[in-house]
Amino acid sequence: MTSPNETAVEVVDLAKDYGPITALDSVSFSIPRGSYHVLLGPSGGGKTTLLRLIGGFVRPTRGRVLLHGQDVSDAPPNKRPTSMVFQSYALFPHMSVERNVGYGLKLQKMAKEQIREAVDQMLGLVGLEGYNRRMPHELSGGQQQRVQLARSLVLESDILLLDEPLASLDAKLRKDMCIELKRIQEKIGITFIHVTHNQEEAMTIADRIAIIADGRLVEEGSPREVYERPVRRFTADFIGENNIIDGRVTGRNGDRFSIDTGFAEVDVVAVGHDIPTGTEVAISVRSELLQLLRESRAADGRVQTLPATYVEEVYLGLTTLHLVRLPNEIEITVRQISGDMAGSVFQPGQAVQVGWKTAEARLHTE
Ligand SMILES: Nc1ncnc2c1ncn2[C@@H]1O[C@H](COP(=O)(O)OP(=O)(O)O)[C@@H](O)[C@H]1O
Ligand SMILES: [Mg+2]
Repeated sequence: MTSPNETAVEVVDLAKDYGPITALDSVSFSIPRGSYHVLLGPSGGGKTTLLRLIGGFVRPTRGRVLLHGQDVSDAPPNKRPTSMVFQSYALFPHMSVERNVGYGLKLQKMAKEQIREAVDQMLGLVGLEGYNRRMPHELSGGQQQRVQLARSLVLESDILLLDEPLASLDAKLRKDMCIELKRIQEKIGITFIHVTHNQEEAMTIADRIAIIADGRLVEEGSPREVYERPVRRFTADFIGENNIIDGRVTGRNGDRFSIDTGFAEVDVVAVGHDIPTGTEVAISVRSELLQLLRESRAADGRVQTLPATYVEEVYLGLTTLHLVRLPNEIEITVRQISGDMAGSVFQPGQAVQVGWKTAEARLHTE
């Protein structure tokens, strides 16, 4: 465990029930100070509840919240070093940008001149220099989002909580704002905890991603770790474009496990795992790591293949999806850079082989 000074947030066995509904179920984890941490997961999984528990807007049913080493489990929001950017936190429509941004400081009874200075500085930081007198209706959605951000940042909390802050923006604007949020966080160096259900947003912005589903912490890691080496089947399914094939362990040779898929045997490497013969497992391979072959290659151990039937291609511009069906009726997606296969070389109904480098598949026991 890291020392309290390096840890912004530590939650211990944190749980929240709403009557019969368990919104959050025994979550424990910590967030290093100064990091950009994303809570990612499907809708209804408990992300907002976890963020509100950290901010003090919700009381835990069980467990503790420590911020910078201090137990704040019973402290109200204004006694915590946090500020929150809500999911749908509209600006005050009748107030100018500068009054919106300075509102919290005015409540704190800060002197007018100081408020003006702080507001100007924040507007500069979020790229809205000179927008002081604009009214909210004179701003684009992206600009309103920046004003909201400035309004939270100006309070100078050590931990900023953001609940789906980019959800109302279109895809292009969301990407730009992602990069900008990250830049702002790096510049001011405080801890950001950002909730989203959008995996691309999470990948773009996060130092670390915690995957939350069904009220639990499923898995945690850097964007690269959760994308390239997902441990849990759920993570593989949720992140990237993974093909998941069920099977059963039939044998083992060192770190190499033989898996019976019901219609073919493949080998999967899982370093440092002890998985008994007979265990039900899942194999995942990302679509961009799959190859389509006309016929089975001579098995040399470095490549695994499965028989399949070609279904169709879906041209998407940069990439093309090739859909194939396995003998167990599961559909597999092969994604290739368009042009790599020089037009449609496969016909619907044609027998093909789908293959991957042995090292590129992951094995999941849960
Ligand atoms: N105030 C509440 N009263 C009752 N149930 C709630 C309340 N807030 C959230 N829930 C339930 O708790 C679960 C988790 O919700 P939430 O934390 O909002 O998930 P997420 O933010 O991941 O979409 C859901 O089943 C939701 O319906
Ligand atoms: Mg939510």
